[in-house]
Amino acid sequence: MRTPSKFFMSLRDISFWIRSAKTDALLKKLRHKYSNEKAFNRLYQIRHDPWCAGVSHYRYQPLKYKTVLSLLPRHGYHRALDIGSGVGVVSRLLAQQVDQVIGVDIAQSAVDYAARASSTIPNVEFRQADFLQLSSASLGRFDLVVLADVVYYLSDLSDQGLQAAREQVLKTLAPKGTLLLVNHYFFCLDSQSRMTRRIHDCFRWAHGLRLVSQHRRPFYLVSVLERE
Ligand SMILES: C[S@@+](CC[C@H](N)C(=O)[O-])C[C@H]1O[C@@H](n2cnc3c(N)ncnc32)[C@H](O)[C@@H]1O
Repeated sequence: MRTPSKFFMSLRDISFWIRSAKTDALLKKLRHKYSNEKAFNRLYQIRHDPWCAGVSHYRYQPLKYKTVLSLLPRHGYHRALDIGSGVGVVSRLLAQQVDQVIGVDIAQSAVDYAARASSTIPNVEFRQADFLQLSSASLGRFDLVVLADVVYYLSDLSDQGLQAAREQVLKTLAPKGTLLLVNHYFFCLDSQSRMTRRIHDCFRWAHGLRLVSQHRRPFYLVSVLERE
């Protein structure tokens, strides 16, 4: 029998899902009222950690981050970019094994919060940016890029929109660099999971990207890709 510490979630985590669903509903309302950037900014002003990424009494998120980072194909990365870094939990974990980590998020209030929470960690920094407008000229190239639970918040989710997002991400990835793509996945029962399939297929079949491995876990999908 498995020990409780191996379970991917506990009963308590049910309220994590409810809170996340409420956040998504609130975000939807804010996006009707404001631009995308303002809506995310306002969201983080109303709820400091809208998706409970750093709330320690939920088991699901910390286990998910730990599992996802254990899927990296190698060690010794020099520069990591965490796109849509939110409150910075993944960036801080990356900083334990990568020389330099930059987290970017469209919401200035998320960036401020993440920077405060990481003030004692010298090799991590956060910047406000829409990743659709990121240029490798300003940030340089990265040998590791993490894109976790971000793409389905883009306003254009058409095939062209996804391809444009993918090309922006590719610009930041150094040759032989690793891209870790993570999205919610609930066995294709809900529309978000179907979107996840489309997102991962879009990246998987990109010219210049090679799928190293793909992992289905309850309730997310991870694609590990390498730039040729
Ligand atoms: C669900 S949260 C995921 C946060 C973090 N990656 C994690 O896994 O805990 C999605 C994040 O993406 C950010 N985001 C959404 N659209 C973005 C964009 N176009 N550019 C940069 N960040 C974006 C949001 O502000 C939010 O912090």
